Amino acid sequence: MGTKPFVTPATFIHSLSFLLGPVFGSKDNFLGLGVFVDTYPNEEKQQERVFPYISAMVNNGSLTYDHDRDGRPTELGGCTAMVRNLNHDTFLVIRYVKRRLTVLIDIDGKHEWRDCIDVPGVRLPRGYYFGTSSVTGDLSDNHDIISLKLYQLTVERTPEEEKRDREVYLPVVDNLKLPGMEAPLEPMSGLALFLIVFFSLVALVFAIVIGVIIYNKWQEQSRKHFY
Ligand SMILES: *[C@@H]1O[C@H](CO)[C@@H](O)[C@H](O)[C@H]1NC(C)=O
Repeated sequence: MGTKPFVTPATFIHSLSFLLGPVFGSKDNFLGLGVFVDTYPNEEKQQERVFPYISAMVNNGSLTYDHDRDGRPTELGGCTAMVRNLNHDTFLVIRYVKRRLTVLIDIDGKHEWRDCIDVPGVRLPRGYYFGTSSVTGDLSDNHDIISLKLYQLTVERTPEEEKRDREVYLPVVDNLKLPGMEAPLEPMSGLALFLIVFFSLVALVFAIVIGVIIYNKWQEQSRKHFY
């Protein structure tokens, strides 16, 4: 079908002033958080995912956004958001408090927030900038960003938390298991191995006992048959 990347407004919180690039119009291998509103699937065989789709990605500068796969290998989470051709305004909230990133949407015109993304353990350095960008391919939609409101949220933080947050130099997500980079299986613990061997032996003994019983029954029956 050869459809090209399609209109997709995206919100970025990144470390550099705005740089043009291939990721929804902005720089690839960026530093920071990207929240993408993708109106069109590029990956073929898209059955389990309905577009428009919102997804989030945290990048330490080394990850590449894979447009052909709609960013699946690097996404932290996402949700479907039917935001095309609506007669009312749609809203997106990106909230980052105490290392927890949440994205909420209000798109049904009912003024109700709906959960979209919720990821704990997100560490973003201080001093980054906000920016928005978009890009289109052969087919195009019109999407306007009417306003961008920024709030500083005040939360109680212990001196340790304060220090911990100051010492984040690269964006990182704790215990991250990206679909694109599956962690290798952990080696089995001694106890697990022992239990598996033990129960296998018990099962084997059971199988032998049952086998012997069935064999005896069968022999008795065949004897009855002969005499
Ligand atoms: C950046 O993130 C990737 C993927 O999580 C990781 O493999 C890499 O080691 C990180 N690089 C640095 C400099 O932290």
